Amino acid sequence: MIDKQSPIPIYHQLEEQIKARIENGELLPGDLLPSEREYAEQLNISRMTVRQAITNLVNDRYLHRIKGKGTFITEKKFEQSLNGLTSFTEDMKSRGMEPSNKLINFEIIPAKLSLAEQLNIPEHTPVYEIKRVRLAEGIPMAFERTYISANLIKGVTDDIVKSSLYHYIESGLGLKLGRATQIFEATIANQEEIEFLEIPENSPVLFMKRLTKLENGSPFEVVKSSYRADRYKFMLDLER
Ligand code: GLP
Repeated sequence: MIDKQSPIPIYHQLEEQIKARIENGELLPGDLLPSEREYAEQLNISRMTVRQAITNLVNDRYLHRIKGKGTFITEKKFEQSLNGLTSFTEDMKSRGMEPSNKLINFEIIPAKLSLAEQLNIPEHTPVYEIKRVRLAEGIPMAFERTYISANLIKGVTDDIVKSSLYHYIESGLGLKLGRATQIFEATIANQEEIEFLEIPENSPVLFMKRLTKLENGSPFEVVKSSYRADRYKFMLDLER
């Protein structure tokens, strides 16, 4: 379906056709794209032209090349808005996805000095340390290490951390969440992240650190989250 008489360059026509096949689900994320030779023969166009179309789609991140294996359709990323203080559970539900948690570790530990300073509590005050893999539709999306001031947020249990912490704080304890400061960094997955996020070695991850305060200004949690860079992208509305 290439129109050689059209003023639209052939590589561009092919690009649009491949994009359309991705969008209508004929080509699925993770699928191997037919080879340059196959496209060239089928459409009776040169391999150079096919290569140009594919290179453009790789640059636009619709496709990606894996050395020695071929060109693949890139997974659709989950677009997460950063406007507003929301929980993982809310983020997933608002997209119609089913959130779940895999609890890796949950214990009470004495706060080290740097954590105590951030939470504005004396050193060695008890904090909950919670390590969770956060999943959507059963797929690991993020690995989170959460530190919560235990004297401020009382009564946290296994069942609570296996569902939603924010829901418990608001509905269970009747406390109001206020604001958070969050920083972002791009990093390469460490051993824990490779294991828990089920990603290959050397994968990129989006690392975030959040310090969250209650409405009355008391800091209550420090959270380190590692999101899969192949599944996530973030969106912000900027106003001038
Ligand atoms: C997000 C935030 C965390 C927060 C968590 C609460 O993942 N990055 O900082 O602790 O939501 O989620 P939930 O209420 O689902 O436990």
